[in-house]
Amino acid sequence: MKILLTGGSGLLGQYLNLRLSAEHELLTLYNENPGNCHKFDSIKVDITDYGRLSLLFGNFRPDAVVHTACYSRPEICASLPRSEVYKLNVEATENIARLCGSFGSKLIFTSTDLVYADSESGMADENGALNPLTLYAESKLMGEIAVQRNSDNYIILRTALLIGFGLNHSRNNFHITYENLKAGKEVRMFYDQFRTPLSIRLAANMISRLCGMPVRNEVVNFGGRDRVSRLQIGEMICEAGGFDKNLLIPVSCQSVKGLVQVPDVSMNTDKLNGYGLAQGSVFDEVGAILKNGI
Ligand SMILES: NC(=O)c1ccc[n+]([C@@H]2O[C@H](COP(=O)([O-])OP(=O)(O)OC[C@H]3O[C@@H](n4cnc5c(N)ncnc54)[C@H](OP(=O)(O)O)[C@@H]3O)[C@@H](O)[C@H]2O)c1
Repeated sequence: MKILLTGGSGLLGQYLNLRLSAEHELLTLYNENPGNCHKFDSIKVDITDYGRLSLLFGNFRPDAVVHTACYSRPEICASLPRSEVYKLNVEATENIARLCGSFGSKLIFTSTDLVYADSESGMADENGALNPLTLYAESKLMGEIAVQRNSDNYIILRTALLIGFGLNHSRNNFHITYENLKAGKEVRMFYDQFRTPLSIRLAANMISRLCGMPVRNEVVNFGGRDRVSRLQIGEMICEAGGFDKNLLIPVSCQSVKGLVQVPDVSMNTDKLNGYGLAQGSVFDEVGAILKNGI
């Protein structure tokens, strides 16, 4: 298949470059930081430029588009004008969905678990109540709606916290926590914020498989198997890496001033598993990440 990837230089995107290029004909896009994109057919493009995007579609004619590019951090979104966040996270997504419609391309869009309402019991299924609390989450939900309105062949992946090491310039909380623990530094971690984390490597493998699967017009929870707190992830890193658990300082997410913290958007992934896409336990995934370095 011919696959166009947006956000090829991102945390997930660089893993997707490795995986998609092994199984498909890949054209990967980056904006400011090439990351590993130079090792693949790649183009530097600002996806808010509709003219360039549309030329790109015309030249490459993708069978499928994996659209991951966005302002992906709630704190960055909160620091930007609302219109700028919408321009990338909603309007560019709408344009991509329209182009996919015109060119008959399947669209896989990575949304977020943060579209769900915080719930005490967690493990929301795809019909769970929605209540995006941050501009980031709101813009991703509006992106979902734009995809549903403008594409007739889409998969929306409500993506959980991604764990694993960032490649090249890319960093996430998991990677930073690992580096701090390895250096013997204390790390403050939420004991009361729960997620269903998914390893980046597994996420890329699953997306590559979904490109060729006859799944159409579905919203799918895209997470790991287990509901765990951030602190538990830290404990797993300590166990797998042989680091001192006393370096972990438990703190409440409610104690953080400023950005809204969402205690529990853990997700039920029965639908994902129903497609034959299975995850191991988070503990095993953390062990594999530290063992393989990826
Ligand atoms: N990471 C997580 O834990 C997590 C959790 C839930 C959902 N998600 C979703 O998963 C997807 C990937 O997240 P991520 O963590 O990999 O994001 P990321 O590392 O922040 O990467 C964002 C990507 O978007 C690109 N980009 C930004 N502005 C652009 C523009 N104007 N034109 C073209 N490209 C632009 C960046 O390119 P440059 O770097 O080259 O500028 C980068 O490749 C996102 O859709 C996100 O909402 C991620």
